[in-house]
Amino acid sequence: MKPGQKLRVALYVFLGLTSLYLFVLSCIWDYRVVVAREHVRFRQEMPTMDSWVNSPFGKLKSYLFNVTNAAEFESGRDKRLKVDQIGPITYKIVGYNDILSRTENNVTYRNNRYRYVEFLPEESVASDVLNWTITSPNNVLLGAATKFKFEDLFITGSVYYFLWEFTRPSLQLVSNLLPFALSSNCGPLHNALKDKEEVYTVNIGPDQGIDNFFRIETLNGQQVIKEQLPRSEEWSNDACPYNVSGAHDNSLFPPFLQPETPLNVVAIESCRVLPLIYQRPERYAGLDTYRYLLLQPGQEPPKCMDTTYGIKLHKGMFDVSKCVINDAPSAFSAPHFYGSSYNWSEHYEGYNPNAEEHEPFILMEPTTGIPVNEKYRFQSNIPMPNLSSYSRRLKSFSNMLLPTFWYEFEMGELPDFVLRLMWINVKVLPHVQAPCMALLLLLALWSALKVIRVAWGDLGYVDLYRKICGRGTTNACLETVFPTTDRHLTQCGQVSDEAVK
Ligand SMILES: *[C@@H]1O[C@H](CO)[C@@H](O)[C@H](O)[C@H]1NC(C)=O
Ligand SMILES: *[C@@H]1O[C@H](CO)[C@@H](O)[C@H](O)[C@H]1NC(C)=O
Ligand SMILES: *[C@@H]1O[C@H](CO)[C@@H](O)[C@H](O)[C@H]1NC(C)=O
Ligand SMILES: *[C@@H]1O[C@H](CO)[C@@H](O)[C@H](O)[C@H]1NC(C)=O
Ligand SMILES: *[C@@H]1O[C@H](CO)[C@@H](O)[C@H](O)[C@H]1NC(C)=O
Ligand SMILES: *[C@@H]1O[C@H](CO)[C@@H](O)[C@H](O)[C@H]1NC(C)=O
Repeated sequence: MKPGQKLRVALYVFLGLTSLYLFVLSCIWDYRVVVAREHVRFRQEMPTMDSWVNSPFGKLKSYLFNVTNAAEFESGRDKRLKVDQIGPITYKIVGYNDILSRTENNVTYRNNRYRYVEFLPEESVASDVLNWTITSPNNVLLGAATKFKFEDLFITGSVYYFLWEFTRPSLQLVSNLLPFALSSNCGPLHNALKDKEEVYTVNIGPDQGIDNFFRIETLNGQQVIKEQLPRSEEWSNDACPYNVSGAHDNSLFPPFLQPETPLNVVAIESCRVLPLIYQRPERYAGLDTYRYLLLQPGQEPPKCMDTTYGIKLHKGMFDVSKCVINDAPSAFSAPHFYGSSYNWSEHYEGYNPNAEEHEPFILMEPTTGIPVNEKYRFQSNIPMPNLSSYSRRLKSFSNMLLPTFWYEFEMGELPDFVLRLMWINVKVLPHVQAPCMALLLLLALWSALKVIRVAWGDLGYVDLYRKICGRGTTNACLETVFPTTDRHLTQCGQVSDEAVK
């Protein structure tokens, strides 16, 4: 063989073996699994990393209620409070995940959920909404105690005041009479958006199991949410959702989700673990997603969260007193009491609960485990006790639930290229494996033939064919390829004879 020939033979041998090797690998590995294994390594260079680092991102919309018949209600003329929703009051939110350390098996990061907060006047109900004047029940004092008859039952102030700086001079005065300490600022947004320390350690890497991707090992170095530590001694894991182990931080989930895959998220603003309840499939941005509910209509509260300062809560609510500023009496429900067993129409006019606007949900692309849309909605309420032994004015608030405000965090659109990558992963990848394997096999065969042809001095296919057939069993071979012509048969026979010589 000439040197050039040798090189070419070597080249085609290499090509053939490589194709064969890749073909065998393709027989063993599912391409989707290969991609998923890479994804769960959570490498710094991943194209989607930037989007995760600057998350959560989206809009925070808050809503307040203006009481329009305060005087009539106080005088006893009206039996029910008339409320008028004010909102949305919209803020842009961009969070930040700061990776503190990583190994092959876990990564530790600090989540600054409210790193960037900006009021969006043009996306709010009106650009000057913060200066609007509304009237609200004096939530703080009504909730704090029912003893303070000297305080006004209703107060009037700007929307900004109610969201951000709700303060009363008398709060300080009375705070030592109350069963809990009061901070001077009870503005719900002021308190909700105060950064809480959130340092997560989560599982990554294929060794931990793809199913365990981004499952939390610890939050702030512990398995128990700090605020619930006192309860963890009293209640079991089942009765009280305080154990973050195995839950998610709501940024990423394991690939290949099934509807029955158990998923929980840490709801840091209510200091609990919240189960995601699979509801139904839904199409979103050209992807087939799973829709999960964060709070199901009529859901029973966990045993340790079904009362607030001794007041039994309705279905579809849960206690968050241990979590909010001042340990003030407080319970979360869906906005407008959607899906709750509280019969608000006994006490109110003006709510309009409906699934479209008030059901809290997450849409998840199940193959990648990436949330593509989310409307995280809760209403904060103050449950009032039975006040029938108090003055007439106070009595009218008996057993009411007083909403402070409600909010919706709407996740922002994922960047286009992330959506496109997901689309390729979900829609293209499953269909390329068979064609790829066929191509690899063909390439391997072609290379093998090429090697032989080159080795025998650049034979054409016909010559090669004659050579091979001439050596072995003639008839069967000939019949399959030239089944009709006897001429070929003899010719081939002659050629083979020559080749043997
Ligand atoms: C709130 O209700 C009061 C009483 O009806 C009314 O005077 C006021 O204009 C309302 N505020 C807004 C912002 O609608
Ligand atoms: C992270 O993984 C390493 C290596 O597997 C392990 O030694 C370490 O305990 C893990 N960290 C936590 C907080 O679990
Ligand atoms: C709201 O009122 C304050 C002063 O009371 C004023 O400085 C501010 O410009 C007003 N904002 C809007 C949006 O009207
Ligand atoms: C939390 O749950 C994990 C897994 O279910 C369990 O191993 C661990 O003991 C629990 N931790 C506490 C403090 O209950
Ligand atoms: C809820 O309250 C309204 C008004 O008091 C009453 O008409 C209605 O029957 C109540 N509904 C239920 C289910 O109790
Ligand atoms: C409130 O308490 C009074 C007695 O103090 C009682 O008669 C009444 O039934 C109670 N109401 C409710 C709704 O529990």
